[in-house]
Amino acid sequence: MSAALALKTPHDDVQPGAVVWACLDDLGPADVLRAAAQPYGGAPLITAGGIGAAFERLQHGASPRILVVGIQNAPDPVSGIRALAEKCGSLTRIIALGTVNDVALYRALRGAGAAEYVVLPTAADALGAAFDDAARNPPAATDDRESGTCTIAVTGALGGAGASTLAINAAWHLAAECGRRVALIDLDAQFGRAALSLDLDPSHGMREIFEHPERIDSLFIAGALVPARAGLWVLGGEEPLDTRVEVTAGAVDRLLDEITSTGEAIDTVILDVPRTVAAAAPDTLRRARAVAIVSELSLAGIRDTGRLCGRIAEACDDDAIRIIAGKVAERNRSEIDAAEFERGTGRRITGTLPWDLKNLSRAGREGKALAEIAASAPLARSIARLAEEVAGVQPTPSGPARLLDMVKHAIGKG
Ligand SMILES: Nc1ncnc2c1ncn2[C@@H]1O[C@H](COP(=O)(O)OP(=O)(O)OP(=O)(O)O)[C@@H](O)[C@H]1O
Ligand SMILES: [Mg+2]
Repeated sequence: MSAALALKTPHDDVQPGAVVWACLDDLGPADVLRAAAQPYGGAPLITAGGIGAAFERLQHGASPRILVVGIQNAPDPVSGIRALAEKCGSLTRIIALGTVNDVALYRALRGAGAAEYVVLPTAADALGAAFDDAARNPPAATDDRESGTCTIAVTGALGGAGASTLAINAAWHLAAECGRRVALIDLDAQFGRAALSLDLDPSHGMREIFEHPERIDSLFIAGALVPARAGLWVLGGEEPLDTRVEVTAGAVDRLLDEITSTGEAIDTVILDVPRTVAAAAPDTLRRARAVAIVSELSLAGIRDTGRLCGRIAEACDDDAIRIIAGKVAERNRSEIDAAEFERGTGRRITGTLPWDLKNLSRAGREGKALAEIAASAPLARSIARLAEEVAGVQPTPSGPARLLDMVKHAIGKG
């Protein structure tokens, strides 16, 4: 999505790190691979075990920029590559390695999501050429900044810090006051509160979205998005609690691709991301132009904001991260003060959500957005400012300022 996520090329500074992962059938081609991968970020992570090993490694969350995977021991290599491509998401380039020299297999692997297929045995320069081609070929799904969609992720460093409150009310503000066409996506398919807070029916099929992302299409999404008001649609589930719903980067990519291609011309997506998802699968946030992390001003908040920032920075530009202080009480009644929090985390607080139990309780009881009942309260105003800043909205002048603009325009000075 961003400079940090762009594939490295031989001309970039070589940095250590897992830019390239290789899960080979056996370690025979390891030396050739090391030589070929050298210009793409230093030593690759190499293991044996093929597609199965690649899945194992991807369980830990982040995906590499290039994944080289042996397919010769896989019973159904094409399905294996398709599943890997779904799991990794569209920003990872997969290079398959096998021994069968067959153009039909090559085409099938490409159709399943492989950027390249290299027949073994191979020389370092032939493999290097495959790396170059994979780097040059644009990924299937474009970065959201390039596609023009504004995706904003909100998560919490502590449970209950106010992340969903921010996500829901920011989405509302952007739709109601800024003319945006917004999809609010609650990635907590079981405990999410986006639909409940706005008194909407939960979306159907949220579990299906994450368990079978390949089945998501624009028709499915159009049925699952629930209209909340003009310009605002909500995707929020209430799935049964008996089994866990695993959120993967591949499913989120697919979801975002389909949401932005519905007939609703959605231009802004707010992702409400449970912190467990942000921590376990930071790649789910990689298409966001801004990632807001909400924390209370407390010692636990310092610890977990620091840890979460480190994890999220593995997948996103560090400067996309915004630290928001939540539930900030008047008269320094927080556990620690803002300056201490900033020293402890080494990060600047870029927004503050004032404590407002009274209006939030009323909004909750009535199933309304905060702005519908207390638009001028400090919390509603802070959320509006934050939403406009991260979404790049020029605030619309209101009242006397708007009148002044109109007069200036009328007399040709605007
Ligand atoms: N600024 C605030 N002032 C007072 N109460 C607040 C404030 N922000 C949120 N709350 C309340 O705290 C509770 C938790 O808020 P919210 O669901 O937004 O947090 P969260 O960070 O999304 O939590 P979770 O970890 O469950 O996802 C809600 O009852 C909400 O009304
Ligand atoms: Mg929440």
